[in-house]
Amino acid sequence: MEYEIIRKTEVTSTNILLKQLAKDGADHGTVLVADSQTNGKGRMGRSFYSPKDTGIYMSILLREDFGNNPTLVTTLTAVAVMKAIEKVTSKQTQVKWVNDILLDGKKVCGILSEGSFSGKELEYMIVGIGVNVDTDYFPDDIKDIAGSVGGKKEELITAILDSFFDEYQNLSDRSYLNYYRERCVTVGKNIKIISPEKEPIEAFSQGITDDAGLIVKYPDGKTEVIMSGEVSVR
Ligand code: BTN
Repeated sequence: MEYEIIRKTEVTSTNILLKQLAKDGADHGTVLVADSQTNGKGRMGRSFYSPKDTGIYMSILLREDFGNNPTLVTTLTAVAVMKAIEKVTSKQTQVKWVNDILLDGKKVCGILSEGSFSGKELEYMIVGIGVNVDTDYFPDDIKDIAGSVGGKKEELITAILDSFFDEYQNLSDRSYLNYYRERCVTVGKNIKIISPEKEPIEAFSQGITDDAGLIVKYPDGKTEVIMSGEVSVR
């Protein structure tokens, strides 16, 4: 698929700026790439450390009907990023449900998908991807959990976008989910489910559904499929 890339040196957040461009009518497939972010956004209200030039900070605008299931797009993005990293660096990464890409146990990429709704209908989605390419200094709060992938930044950007739009053709048949399951470190583990404004809940993670949800079993034996939130693997 054809995609248009807009390049910026510094932005607050590629997700915030692309949302603005979407409101102004930007097309499906518009990609915004920045060299640094002053207000990079992570999940659950956290920030994403975005130093100049040593990482990839980009967002993709999608204007299609995803059956109101943004988790499918998020997991597809994770697959696209893992394949691209392997192609460029020959390194095998893994994924912690739903969207943290790990290399040797360290987080090297985060994905932040944000939907814009008109009533209950998803109008468009912004998929934000942040990759630490050759960042060697991380702030204290993340220095033990963050890592870098290495490789050439421009080559990685092209590989991620090619891989993303390639995989995107398979969104509806969901074949990419098998790759996701193979690389997922969360399945078969005791986990804690972390949701905003709630106490963490302990559970055992049993698998990934065809809707990309995580099947969890609680200590009382009940099972549930969760579609969002964050897990920590114990
Ligand atoms: C997370 O790990 O919590 C998600 C991090 C997502 C970071 C990317 S960087 C590009 C895009 N713009 C943002 O402000 N955030 C995403």
